[in-house]
Amino acid sequence: MNAAIRAVVRSSIYYGLQVTGIRRGYDGMIKGDLFDMDRKSVSNIIQKGGTILKTARSEQFKTKEGRQIAYDQLKKHGVDALVGIGGDGTFTGARIFGEEFDMPIIGLPGTIDNDLCGTDFTIGYDTAINTVIDAVDKIRDTAESHDRLFIVEVMGRDSGLIALRTGIAAGAEAILIPESKTDLQAVFDKLERGRKDKKSKIIMLAENGEAGDAFEIGKQIKEKFPNYDTRVSVLGHIQRGGRPTCMDRVLASRLGVAAVEALLAGRKGEMMGLVHKEITYTPFDHAIKHFEEINPDFLKIVDILAI
Ligand code: F6P
Repeated sequence: MNAAIRAVVRSSIYYGLQVTGIRRGYDGMIKGDLFDMDRKSVSNIIQKGGTILKTARSEQFKTKEGRQIAYDQLKKHGVDALVGIGGDGTFTGARIFGEEFDMPIIGLPGTIDNDLCGTDFTIGYDTAINTVIDAVDKIRDTAESHDRLFIVEVMGRDSGLIALRTGIAAGAEAILIPESKTDLQAVFDKLERGRKDKKSKIIMLAENGEAGDAFEIGKQIKEKFPNYDTRVSVLGHIQRGGRPTCMDRVLASRLGVAAVEALLAGRKGEMMGLVHKEITYTPFDHAIKHFEEINPDFLKIVDILAI
């Protein structure tokens, strides 16, 4: 997100605009936590995780009264256009706010989950999946040395895209994601059929699945296969921090500049994205609909390669 903030601030200055930063998103907007930003405000942040502007959820912004206060604050500070960085919550708020008030808004896709339509990748996803791979490679050392089966749970709220991609890259035996019906029996069958001489195995699980969390699935595998030395590892918030990858920094920089150019061109109510290397614009209500399906080839690849 810092690389995106830097790109928006610097490109705005480049085009002769004044920039106001808002701390803690919609919550800060309502509280009037706005401040002037210049070229130096974003120095030395491109390599840092998190966001210098901080972030927060806002219940008040969900109300009409809250949004009115936010709008009044923006007007008081002379703000006449917004760039919002985030995912579902940010864009749902932006869509409503943009329709209610005369305020052009452009969104940047900022979520590790990669679950927005209208961009191949979201800002943060590449860093998160590389963190996962790094962690699973380390877990594999124990799995391999001790002949253990690991269930590794990764983030994704309602989306299995982190689990899917990292499962392939980590050489997982099976991947359990919400987008494809969780069939534990299929995993059992796979373990049954699998090579008997190979005891070290990784099963990649997306959080919030219908079959339960990693501990629940671990329990069931232990009951069914007492001969497996089974362990559970929940990676948690390490996936949301750390130095952004080169891919994420470039994506954020490209989309940040394009967001400012989009506002200058009179665009509004859209999320910026990159599809097949080209800049794209997707209306907020389309971006937050998760109807793009998981590529079935990805799941097939796991099956083929786990023999
Ligand atoms: O949406 C991003 C995300 O990292 C999800 O993958 C995860 O479920 C959630 O945020 C965690 O949120 P919190 O830090 O509020 O528990």
